[in-house]
Amino acid sequence: MKILIVGSGGREHTMAWKLKQSPKLTKLYVAPGNAGTADIAQNIPIGVNDFEAIKQLVLEENIEMVVVGPEDPLVNGIHDFFLEDPDLSGIAVIGPQKAAATLEGSKQFAKEFMMRHGIPTAAYQSFTVDTLDEGYRFLETLTAPYVLKADGLAAGKGVLILEELEQAKKELKSMLIDEKFGNASTTVVIEEFLAGIELSVFVLTDGDGYQILPTAKDYKRIGEGDTGLNTGGMGAISPVPFADNVFMDKIHANIVKPTVEGLKKDNLPYKGFIFIGLIKVGDEPKVIEYNVRMGDPETEVVLPRIQTDLLDLLKATAAGTLNEIELKIDDRTAATVMLVSGGYPEAYEKGKEITGFRNVQDALVFHAGTQLKDGKVLTNGGRVMAITSYGENFKEALATSYTNINTVRFDQMNYRKDIGFDL
Ligand code: AMP
Ligand code: GLY
Repeated sequence: MKILIVGSGGREHTMAWKLKQSPKLTKLYVAPGNAGTADIAQNIPIGVNDFEAIKQLVLEENIEMVVVGPEDPLVNGIHDFFLEDPDLSGIAVIGPQKAAATLEGSKQFAKEFMMRHGIPTAAYQSFTVDTLDEGYRFLETLTAPYVLKADGLAAGKGVLILEELEQAKKELKSMLIDEKFGNASTTVVIEEFLAGIELSVFVLTDGDGYQILPTAKDYKRIGEGDTGLNTGGMGAISPVPFADNVFMDKIHANIVKPTVEGLKKDNLPYKGFIFIGLIKVGDEPKVIEYNVRMGDPETEVVLPRIQTDLLDLLKATAAGTLNEIELKIDDRTAATVMLVSGGYPEAYEKGKEITGFRNVQDALVFHAGTQLKDGKVLTNGGRVMAITSYGENFKEALATSYTNINTVRFDQMNYRKDIGFDL
């Protein structure tokens, strides 16, 4: 089978690495890919939202399945684009249709979905420029900290958590009146603050059947001890040690099952990955957000623990036969540490040569922001490379990743030395 992966990050390199292990794969393409995917697949320099160019590629190369990595093309309707085109409608697309992708594209839509289907989440109300005063009054009924969320996609920056009521009112005004996040903050969701520890659950669904994939926990802040600015993710571990069987049963019964059934009831066609961001409040899981794709760097620890052929899983997703598959999971823990460019998540330089990564022996190297140029591998983004290791527990796995990181070098390389510190 010929497969195209759309995207260019660590998530897509990990998917490529995993699909390459399938005896049923005949050729793998990644658009646009990175230096890591260039090693194991054919990179095609096409942007993830250039649906016409993707169409040409798929038809010319007789590609049979398209696996969509990031949310952007899904929210923009890449799956619908395929279904509506008679030349493309027979090609499997892994990722929800546009209507279902709105679960990530609009926080208000996601909240309404959860309310409708009785899925536990923070209490909320949403506001627009016409209801700013009501927004102020709603904030006055809450206690600090205040959680303000831009409704639309804001590149992971649209959530503000504020300690002071006056500050929260000021930010609400700036989001609604001054369009702090552009169109994304035309509507703002104000939410009850949930105190607890976070984890993520990943589900692969064919719209009816589903498989619960391994849990993971990521570390989003740039600084040690979870301080400083938010990033795309600085590291992750899987499984999450506190997600025991009792807690997982609750997640399954109260969240995963009603989510998949809700998609069906609401006529939201979904063949793909669901990323459920959760917070453990006391002993109860509550949903913080849905993403309509895999996480990054969570993929770098989730897929290495899946022993089942990923191509078989994705084929079953397209065919609607996921429930017939037996999912095999590696019992070991996987941990990943992200190497980032100095300055990230603020301004940073690109184009630094990366050396040593080919000598890494006991760990997996997944490229994120890298580029192949004149035979050299250069940095090409804030998050550069994820180093994943296995261990009997997360400490052992992390120790191996940290030892192997010593082999890798680039100018101003930075990484968090305390992944897993809170467990
Ligand atoms: P999101 O973009 O929705 O994932 O939100 C970003 C981060 O904000 C989450 O990972 C949480 O750490 C935090 N967060 C979001 N909603 C809440 C909430 N209701 N209570 C506490 N923290 C939250
Ligand atoms: N690591 C968080 C995300 O992929 O959204």
